[in-house]
Amino acid sequence: MLSDLAQTLIPPDAICERLDALAAQMAAVLPTRDVVLMPVLTGGLVFAADLMRRLPTRLSVACVGASSYAGARTTSEAQSPDEVRLAGLDAARAAARGKHVVLVDDILDTGRTLLALQGALQASGALSVRTCVLLRKNREEAALCAADFVAFDIPDAFVVGYGLDFDGLYRNLPGIHTLKPEVVAAAQTKAAMA
Ligand code: IMP
Ligand code: MG
Repeated sequence: MLSDLAQTLIPPDAICERLDALAAQMAAVLPTRDVVLMPVLTGGLVFAADLMRRLPTRLSVACVGASSYAGARTTSEAQSPDEVRLAGLDAARAAARGKHVVLVDDILDTGRTLLALQGALQASGALSVRTCVLLRKNREEAALCAADFVAFDIPDAFVVGYGLDFDGLYRNLPGIHTLKPEVVAAAQTKAAMA
């Protein structure tokens, strides 16, 4: 797996250090009660698990699922927030009602995922909906949605690790990396032939 990687953008110890500061910043501004931390599965899983253990805030946890990339793609296939596939929305809406929600996702790219989730939860009677991402891509085009809390800004590159996948793989890497172009190309050729 490690031989598939090109560059390390963020090593594991830098993530740990930044999360300590981010959690302190969040704890200082979040309400002291009725907070629901909502990991966005599957990419937000690793980040949310590490972040919540640093928050002294009284909170509950409820997950929601979202997907916009399919298989061996490195660009979002959804064209509008309506095209993002959300899963477990009924339970997430019930958990959000009357609560201050903090959506926790891996990355803010186009913003479609968080915009779709924000809309769905606001409509279900959440008191507030904040967004927190590990990474924010420095894209040419502005994202459709802003994030309230950001751990790292990164260049507009496709990255894997710490929850982020390519074709379902690499989520278990403890740092953030780019992939060798030949690894991406091989997976895309295989997918095209399937
Ligand atoms: P958005 O809806 O375009 O903001 O994309 C957000 C979702 O796309 C994230 O939750 C990720 O699952 C996925 N995504 C965007 N960029 C990357 C990347 O560089 N690597 C892996 N997944 C990504
Ligand atoms: Mg995701």
